[in-house]
Amino acid sequence: MKAVAVTPGVKNSAHLVEMAKPSIDEIADGRGVLVKVLRVGVDGTDKEINNAEYGAAPEGFDFLVTGHEGFGLVEEVGANVHELKPGDYVVATVRRPGHSIYDLIGTNDMTTDDTYYERGINLLHGYLAEFYVDDAAYIVKVPSGLKDVGVLLEPMSVVQKGITQAYEIQRRLKVWKPKRAAVLGAGTIGLLAMLALKLRGIDVVTFGKTRKPYLNSDLVENVGATYITTDDISVADYAKQNGAFDLIFEATGYSPIVFDAMRALAKNGVLILSSVTGGDRMVEVPADKLNLEFVLGNKVMVGTVNANREYFESGVQDMSAAVVEYGDWLSRLLTHEVKGLENYEQIFDLLTNGKDAIKVYCQVAT
Ligand code: BGC
Ligand code: ZN
Repeated sequence: MKAVAVTPGVKNSAHLVEMAKPSIDEIADGRGVLVKVLRVGVDGTDKEINNAEYGAAPEGFDFLVTGHEGFGLVEEVGANVHELKPGDYVVATVRRPGHSIYDLIGTNDMTTDDTYYERGINLLHGYLAEFYVDDAAYIVKVPSGLKDVGVLLEPMSVVQKGITQAYEIQRRLKVWKPKRAAVLGAGTIGLLAMLALKLRGIDVVTFGKTRKPYLNSDLVENVGATYITTDDISVADYAKQNGAFDLIFEATGYSPIVFDAMRALAKNGVLILSSVTGGDRMVEVPADKLNLEFVLGNKVMVGTVNANREYFESGVQDMSAAVVEYGDWLSRLLTHEVKGLENYEQIFDLLTNGKDAIKVYCQVAT
């Protein structure tokens, strides 16, 4: 079978490889699931991997098959798989267990190991291939009604984890009921976070860099949220004028905005950080003020990465609710399609140069 791989450590090394079709026998205890890949989405992580800033090949290989946002069709299951059957639409989680206590209880996303195993990212091959095999434990069923947008489930799982963890933390307050939220960033993660918060009945303001109107600001306004450009007003100034936020979800990829967000947080508020910022940017901040406001306001800031199975499942629920409530809204995020694995160069080109791109994905098969 064909797959798209990079040579970790070598810039712009994306290339096609030919591999043996995987078999369910590779998985122990009859728990294997063979998935025919239909679509794979790409994001900033894939861009960094092809830029040789991130990613490692599996042991025994000098290449890494990329792609961690997979959507596919079950083709064959092992004798002990009863929860899935051929013909089911599925998405696989990304991180596999390491050795920490958190991995042992199925929360691989909370690992404290220094080495982590992520399909398509670190030490494990990904989904940008014709087929993959995995243990049923890591494969989540997607209802057929979501088949056109199922490729968004992995990024949605990342959003679900951030928001669920924030609610979990806020149980400290006994009566916390967030009314106003801010989402920083209007890319795929920002838009999905905005959606998930709207579905929870919260007023949302999305802050983006681009001036409206454009597709992303339309998507924000179409579900009844507010779009503000940070070129006009900073997050902190907006909060000063219009009221502070109970919850802020940061997804811009621009780390300095975090300190601005800290100042926009209401008393008892929670700030969720989700941007994986690989650089080494420096900024000067009003340290005393930030610290004082956090102390006197009992505020929380929490980092979040990856997602375990639980969050893929709640992602399916939110995506289902979104289809019922907002019709084709989710599919409008799928802006750029690349047809076929052999056009892999286009995938990486669109990631950098795709005009008005929200989600770029490869249609691997139909
Ligand atoms: C993926 C996560 C992953 C993270 C860090 C993100 O792009 O969506 O699943 O944990 O990168 O590697
Ligand atoms: Zn990702």
